[in-house]
Amino acid sequence: MMRGLSWVWPAVLLMLVLVGGAASEGSIAGSTSRYVRRLAESVDLPYDSPYFAVPNGINPPQQVHLTQGDYDGRAVIVSYVTVKLSKPKVRYGKTEGDHPWQAKGYTTQYKFYNYTSGYIHHVIISNLEYDTKYFYKVGTEEEGAREFFFTTPPAPGPDAPYTFGVIGDLGQTFDSADTLEHYLQSYGQTMLFLGDLAYQDNYPLHYQVRFDTWSRFVERSAAYQPFIWTTGNHELDYVPEIGETVPFKPFNHRFPTPYWASNSTSPQWYSIRRGPATIIVLSSYSAYGKYTPQYVFLLAALKAVDRKVTPWLIILVHSPWYNSYNYHYMEGETMRVIFEPFIVAAKVDVVFAGHVHAYERSFPVSNIKYNITNGICTPQIDPSAPTYITIGDGGNIEGLAANYTEPQPSYSAFREASFGHGLFDIKNKTTAVWTWHRNQDGEAVSADSVVILNKVHS
Ligand SMILES: *[C@@H]1O[C@H](CO)[C@@H](O)[C@H](O)[C@H]1NC(C)=O
Ligand SMILES: *[C@@H]1O[C@H](CO)[C@@H](O)[C@H](O)[C@H]1NC(C)=O
Ligand SMILES: *[C@@H]1O[C@H](CO)[C@@H](O)[C@H](O)[C@H]1NC(C)=O
Ligand SMILES: *[C@@H]1O[C@H](CO)[C@@H](O)[C@H](O)[C@H]1NC(C)=O
Ligand SMILES: *[C@@H]1O[C@H](CO)[C@@H](O)[C@H](O)[C@H]1NC(C)=O
Ligand SMILES: [Fe+2]
Repeated sequence: MMRGLSWVWPAVLLMLVLVGGAASEGSIAGSTSRYVRRLAESVDLPYDSPYFAVPNGINPPQQVHLTQGDYDGRAVIVSYVTVKLSKPKVRYGKTEGDHPWQAKGYTTQYKFYNYTSGYIHHVIISNLEYDTKYFYKVGTEEEGAREFFFTTPPAPGPDAPYTFGVIGDLGQTFDSADTLEHYLQSYGQTMLFLGDLAYQDNYPLHYQVRFDTWSRFVERSAAYQPFIWTTGNHELDYVPEIGETVPFKPFNHRFPTPYWASNSTSPQWYSIRRGPATIIVLSSYSAYGKYTPQYVFLLAALKAVDRKVTPWLIILVHSPWYNSYNYHYMEGETMRVIFEPFIVAAKVDVVFAGHVHAYERSFPVSNIKYNITNGICTPQIDPSAPTYITIGDGGNIEGLAANYTEPQPSYSAFREASFGHGLFDIKNKTTAVWTWHRNQDGEAVSADSVVILNKVHS
């Protein structure tokens, strides 16, 4: 893969000076970084890449990944795949190599056109202690057991510092590998994943083997900390031409979410509490109009939030509501029109989105005055409104979105078309530091960093 240095412009250094420190969110004019990476499409890692290696053993567990398994963070769902049938079972304990407890789960399998998945196992471990490291083992000794570990979050509460990683639109290219490697070197404790996982649908017949390779690729992170999943358009796998007409079928078999714990009726939208934050996950590709299940859910989920317990309120959604790139322009608009009044009223702190393969951060803005006749339809700085962050720049096969509307709209604080990942570092109930790490900078240097003050507690 080409790794030229032609992208290192003097302007880069200037940008680093300008945005390198964690400035406070103001409403000064926004800036567009001219740092743009190579624009050619990224290339998927070959099937024989070490990132996709199948572990040793007769029937080894593979594609191991975690997600939160309840509302408050005392449960974890362990998911893994075996090629041959195997009992869905996880042993765990608090000491490495010692697993006195065991949890059982269920096994599922799906067909997609002429692909048949492996045996997909999901095991919920419940009643864990908060803020505790657990070692767990999947698979039997005879088949090839494997040990991993995770740390539970602190109990929901205002004084628990916590750091969320943020990645969207990852895919499985050489750039995706850079992004994940950089994230692994960070101190992120739980991943907020903004949808578009494997890009299996960029292959003929939505080649589901690419879901298997992707899940082996992300295991190095997802087996050790929960990934909070949002679904994107690439998870729809809606292909009526070949008789595949159930949206999200492969995703829902592979990546469970704890939707029942927040009274949701669909894996595509749900909420959880984790340490100092309530996180509400929405689905851009499910119905959200008035009276729909997702609409009813969002209003109830917002009502259930107690900012005294979880000062931070975060929304995850795939398609951004504020996006000034010429890609997917206004695709999130209808959902914004319906949901924005509620999330401004609820003083949501930040809305993370993916979908657009670039990075953009807004000022706190809202656009909720318009009523068909009054003509008031310009986004305006609004202290009650969230910061919108688009970070669909994980590195997938489709390449970067490097073309933006000019001039930069007044709601846009910073935008740059590069691959990378983010860290939302909650210090306490008033202060969080958001940092976006562009890939070429490695972990040490951030390309955009801003202090985000809590909307209720500061
Ligand atoms: C699935 O069908 C495609 C297209 O007909 C074919 O190329 C492929 O070999 C088939 N795969 C399997 C596992 O049968
Ligand atoms: C779920 O429903 C229960 C019972 O009505 C309620 O107490 C709880 O707050 C709801 N949770 C959410 C996240 O809406
Ligand atoms: C729309 O807004 C205008 C100006 O604020 C107001 O006069 C008018 O009554 C509103 N119309 C409706 C239907 O609410
Ligand atoms: C960027 O998008 C605009 C509007 O779609 C288009 O006119 C222009 O040619 C594009 N520029 C590049 C460099 O792709
Ligand atoms: C919260 O953290 C920030 C940044 O570390 C610090 O400046 C501030 O004093 C802290 N506030 C409280 C209430 O602890
Ligand atoms: Fe997308």
